[in-house]
Amino acid sequence: MGYRIAVIPGDGCGPEMIAEGLKVLDATGVDVDLVTHDLGTGRYAATGEILPDDIFADLADCDAIYKGPIGARHVGDDVPPGVLERGLILELRFRLDQYINLRPVRLYPGVPCPIVGKTPDDVDFVVIRENTEGLYAGAGGIFKKGTPDETALQTSVSTRKGVERAVRYAFETARKRNKKRKLTMVAKTNVLTFTGDIWSRVFHEVGEEYPDIERDYAHVDAWCFYVVNNPEWFDVVVTENMFGDIITDLAAAVQGGMGVASSGNLNPEGVSMFEQIGGTAPQFAGLNAINPMAAIGAVEMMLAHLGEGDAASAVSGAMASVFPKLDQMGAGQMGYSTTEVGDMVAEQVKG
Ligand code: IPM
Ligand code: MG
Repeated sequence: MGYRIAVIPGDGCGPEMIAEGLKVLDATGVDVDLVTHDLGTGRYAATGEILPDDIFADLADCDAIYKGPIGARHVGDDVPPGVLERGLILELRFRLDQYINLRPVRLYPGVPCPIVGKTPDDVDFVVIRENTEGLYAGAGGIFKKGTPDETALQTSVSTRKGVERAVRYAFETARKRNKKRKLTMVAKTNVLTFTGDIWSRVFHEVGEEYPDIERDYAHVDAWCFYVVNNPEWFDVVVTENMFGDIITDLAAAVQGGMGVASSGNLNPEGVSMFEQIGGTAPQFAGLNAINPMAAIGAVEMMLAHLGEGDAASAVSGAMASVFPKLDQMGAGQMGYSTTEVGDMVAEQVKG
């Protein structure tokens, strides 16, 4: 019996990218049973459904979820902001308790880096973003809406349990990577003194158990400055949810853009979900022009997470050999179509 993988192709260019990821997954020979779920803007527009109970039950019962982007299907599509983000993406993260957002940031050979002079040796770190709390928890409200006295509150939540498990996962990652053996906590302890306090105390308390890992700290604004000037300073970075969301897009730019960046929403004890981090790119939907590499990278992360280390290495090796053949990373700029890129990677994987 193979791994049971739930596939959510998503909207816009999602299905085209996911098809190439599945082509590469197939090429690894790892035994999988795929079950596809149609969720996102298409389903919502047609039926009003966001995450039906039977589909959630099925997702909760699989070995991993492979997800495409959710959002606009074509230019001008407008679902009100938050309906699918909170109702579907965050709902899955929260209900499946995917408390780690794992974002490897590495510059593959042949991928143009926007920072002059930086090589793959300089850009190789991973961001561990706490994935269920902070401002994303949804604590707050809007009062007296539409009146002159209206007031909006959006409160950041940091629990001891949530902070500790993210920080511990980050120390473990630094140990397993065995590279610089350094963990940088990113926060804003000089202004956000309440969340900064709990994060700092937990960071140093847990850090006592990892004397082999160097503890480092950067304020989030300073980190943004450092990552552009000196990405080689970083090995593993841990941060709260909202800062993590923002700095991982910056990090994606440093590694060559949305065509390259993949992410894992992990519940190390449960069901994890893997995706490319870019959006639906509706202007390119159906043109066979989008770069599928980030979705292929998500397959690599999924294989590694499932314990299929050899297959994961085969995929990253194949990606590394195909990247230098592409002209640019953006949609329509690769010199090849979406399906051609998927074919090239799959051929390399087959060896
Ligand atoms: C991400 C995305 C999501 C987030 C959106 C789509 C809800 O930006 O995975 O980083 O904000 O977490
Ligand atoms: Mg984001």
